[in-house]
Amino acid sequence: MAFGRLTAIISIALAASQTARAALTKRVTCATGQVTANAACCKLFPIVQQIQTDLFDGGECGEEAHSALRLSFHDAIGFSIHGGKGGGADGSILIFNSTELAFHANGGIDDITARQFPVFQETGLTAGDFVHLAAAIGTANCPGAPRLQFMFGRPPPKAPAPDLTVPEPTDSVTSILARFADAGFSPSEAVALLSSHTIAAADVVDVTIPGTPFDSTVGTFDTQVFLEVLLKGKLNGSQPGEVLSPLAGEMRLQSDFAISQDSRTACLWQDMVNNQKLMMTNFKAAMAKLQVLGQKNLIDCSDVVPVPQVLNTPIKFPASFSRADVQVACKASPFPNNIATVAGPAPTVAPVPGS
Ligand code: HEM
Ligand SMILES: *[C@@H]1O[C@H](CO)[C@@H](O)[C@H](O)[C@H]1NC(C)=O
Ligand SMILES: *[C@@H]1O[C@H](CO)[C@@H](O)[C@H](O)[C@H]1NC(C)=O
Repeated sequence: MAFGRLTAIISIALAASQTARAALTKRVTCATGQVTANAACCKLFPIVQQIQTDLFDGGECGEEAHSALRLSFHDAIGFSIHGGKGGGADGSILIFNSTELAFHANGGIDDITARQFPVFQETGLTAGDFVHLAAAIGTANCPGAPRLQFMFGRPPPKAPAPDLTVPEPTDSVTSILARFADAGFSPSEAVALLSSHTIAAADVVDVTIPGTPFDSTVGTFDTQVFLEVLLKGKLNGSQPGEVLSPLAGEMRLQSDFAISQDSRTACLWQDMVNNQKLMMTNFKAAMAKLQVLGQKNLIDCSDVVPVPQVLNTPIKFPASFSRADVQVACKASPFPNNIATVAGPAPTVAPVPGS
C-alpha cells in the first residue's frame, strides 16, 4: 500500500513535469513567419532586421559590431553582487550618457552610443533591451562567434552607474580580478569574456593610430587574440595601457598581456589557444551572465539572434612567428604544439575602417 501510494505520487510528479516541459518547448509561429519559443518575442524579429540595416551595415562584423559588444560590457559591469553600484545590464550608459561617458574607462564609447541612440529610439525597446540585443546581433555578425543568448524585458534604467566599475588596461591583475569577482565573475569567466578582444581595436589608447586591432584577424571570432597576446613584442607600444606588440599595426593591451602571464590566469588563457569550441562555450556562458546582471523576470528570446557563420579552420602563427616567440606562462600544461605558421613575411595589420 505504501508502495502503491509512492507509485501514484511518482506518476503524478512525472505527468506534471511532462506538462511543464511541453509548455516550455511549445513553439509559436509569428505573423512574420519565424518560429520562437514565446509569442512575446515575435515583435523582435523586425527589430533585429532594422538593427542590422541601420546599425550594422546590413549585417557586418565591423566597427559598430565590435563597439556594440564593448558597450554591453561597459553597461552591465556597473553592478556589484554586494549592492550599491548601479543597475547592471540596464542600458544606463545610453540614457545617462552625460554622466557615464565622462568616466575615464569609457573613453571612445561616445561614438557607439551616439550611433545607437537614434536607432534605439526607432525600435521602442527599453535601453537595456536595446544595448544587449544589439550586442548579441553584432557578435553574431562575426564568423566563429557563438550564438549569444538574448533575454528580453528589462525595465528602463533608474540611474547612472557610478564611476570606477569598468576595468582599465593600466589596472593590475589583482584589481581586475577583484572587480570581476565583485560583479559575480570568476577568473575563468573573466578570461572567457576577454575572448571579445578577438573582434576588437583601440581608438583612444593611442589616439594617433585609431582602429588598431588586438589581433591579426579582427573580423573573425577566432582564438587568434589568445595566441598573439602571448607573442614577444618588439614594436610600438609606449602609451599607458599597452605593451610592445609583435606585429606592425597591432596593439597589445597591458591588461591582456598581464592576465596571460599571471599564475592565476595563465593556464585559463593558454587553454583558449586554438580551442575554438572551448572559447565559444565559455564566452557564451559568461555573456549569458553578463547580459542579465541586476535583471529579473526576463523572457528567453534567444531565437531572434541571428545564427553566426561557423569557423572551423585551425588558427596559425602570423607569418614569420613560431613557438619560439611564445611567452609561455602556464606551468600546468604544455603549450599546443600543432600550430602552423602562415607563409611569407611578417604582416602589417590593417586598421579597422570607420574608426
Ligand atoms: C580586463 C578587462 C578589460 C579591459 C581592461 C578592457 C580594455 C579595453 C580597451 C582599452 C579597449 C580599447 C578602447 C579604445 O582605445 O578605443 C577595449 C576595446 C574593446 N573591448 Fe575591452 N576591456 C576589458 C574587457 C572587455 C570585455 C569583458 C568585453 C566584452 C565582453 C570587451 C570588449 C571589447 C571590445 C569588443 C572592444 C573593441 C571595441 C572596438 O573595436 O570598437 N572588453 N577594451
Ligand atoms: C546622449 O543622449 C542624448 C539624448 O539624451 C542623445 O541625443 C545624444 O546623441 C547622446 N550622445 C552620445 C554621445 O551618446
Ligand atoms: C612606431 O614605431 C616607428 C618605428 O620606431 C616610429 O617611426 C613610429 O613613429 C611609431 N609610431 C607610433 C604611433 O608610435
